[in-house]
Amino acid sequence: MKIAIACDHGGYPLKDALMQVIASMGHEVVDLGAHSYDANDDYPDFARYIGQALQHGQVDKGVLLCGSGVGACIAANKQTGVRASVCHDVYSAHQGVEHDAMNVLCLGSRIIGPQLAEDLVRAFVSASFSGEERHNRRLEKVNALEKAG
Ligand code: RB5
Repeated sequence: MKIAIACDHGGYPLKDALMQVIASMGHEVVDLGAHSYDANDDYPDFARYIGQALQHGQVDKGVLLCGSGVGACIAANKQTGVRASVCHDVYSAHQGVEHDAMNVLCLGSRIIGPQLAEDLVRAFVSASFSGEERHNRRLEKVNALEKAG
């Protein structure tokens, strides 16, 4: 799979280590920045880069980092076809993909440490949507909400 990763300055401390984790799992990492620490950068810009990469089919999933994960998640979910969530527990990191087709994992580097972040990314990247009828039905309803605006 191709996995995008992006962060603002709040998420920057986790990015390099998580890129290595994804690569070590045999996936291609698409690094959408930030490429250096800039205390004045803004998380919506990085949410947009991941959203566009998903919308254009350039990546299969994204990992988006900010200080808490919250701002990144809010911004990511404004974009059509993006289903993002902050998951700071391993169950949600895989169940969100399996049941809800989550395609962006948002993490807060001021909240969690590098080992938990690695476990969360491993769970997220390894998980697949179940395709079960009840999950498809719910996904269609979520898509209808998105279309309704
Ligand atoms: C940046 O200082 C911080 O506000 C941002 O990374 C994030 O935590 C927002 O939710």
